[in-house]
Amino acid sequence: MSSTQDMLVHTEAGVTTVTFNRADKKNSITEAMYAAMADALEQAAQDAAVRCLVFQGDLAIFSAGNDIADFLQQAAKGATPQAAQGTGERPVWRFLRLLAGFPKPLVAAVCGPAVGIGTTLLLHCDLVYAGDNAAFSLPFVNLGLCPEAGASLLLPQIVGYPKAAEKLMLGEAFYAEEALEMGLINRIVPPHEVNAYAQSQAAKLAAKPAASLRVTKSLMKMAQTQLAPVMTEELKHFGALLQGPAAKEAISAVMEKRKPDFSKC
Ligand code: COA
Repeated sequence: MSSTQDMLVHTEAGVTTVTFNRADKKNSITEAMYAAMADALEQAAQDAAVRCLVFQGDLAIFSAGNDIADFLQQAAKGATPQAAQGTGERPVWRFLRLLAGFPKPLVAAVCGPAVGIGTTLLLHCDLVYAGDNAAFSLPFVNLGLCPEAGASLLLPQIVGYPKAAEKLMLGEAFYAEEALEMGLINRIVPPHEVNAYAQSQAAKLAAKPAASLRVTKSLMKMAQTQLAPVMTEELKHFGALLQGPAAKEAISAVMEKRKPDFSKC
């Protein structure tokens, strides 16, 4: 399994664990980290010895979402699903494609903030456990962007349209209790127990008949026929919006630690 220093990947007893390890930047995700996650998903899907995959952060932070500096670079290069030089798929898109199609159980352990893709990746997980310090947010509109990772389809399906609209349009953080009530997570666990609890659930899954789990997951996903086209459409709009004036203003405001001014956007 490939790891970068910022994204640790290890496999033990049939469970691959992907750990965000960039705490100084709040586990925000760079292109290299997307590539490492995509490699981990691809290898775990192919390796018959791997029965389940777990995403985890640490006690204080799951992930602050896409690295903001990378957003600026992508905007400059012209973000499309393809890499700027036309040399294949961008790591983030490859990661999302492999995540959405991952055939084995996916488990997530979330403590602290889970921002943007830190929350939308959870929509693809089969089991999500969160610490009572978990804070979810989908600030795409506030960044002049739109949802990604199929969130515009999956979030309304999982939590209902009104809640999805509130979370995606206002982009305000919401916490573990509300996430549980909405059906976004399976259980709240004390923060220091979350990773261990997720591992114990993953171990249970790893001991079950793999083919039955795979078929069960694929049957439950059969109704999501629009997921791939919605994800493609999202990426197209996301790339265009990333180059627009609202995203430029919002991202500059984050970098400069000031409030954005959308009065002209
Ligand atoms: N990309 C790059 N760096 C990020 C980052 C991101 N998405 N989120 C945080 N960081 C960096 C900060 O720039 C800061 O770096 P510095 O110490 O070199 O100045 C460091 O991580 C700590 O961040 P800070 O904001 O001081 O931590 P906090 O505990 O007060 O808040 C968050 C944590 C996650 C709530 C907050 O950092 C945040 O909202 N980040 C932006 C998230 C975002 O907009 N993501 C894009 C989603 S689409």
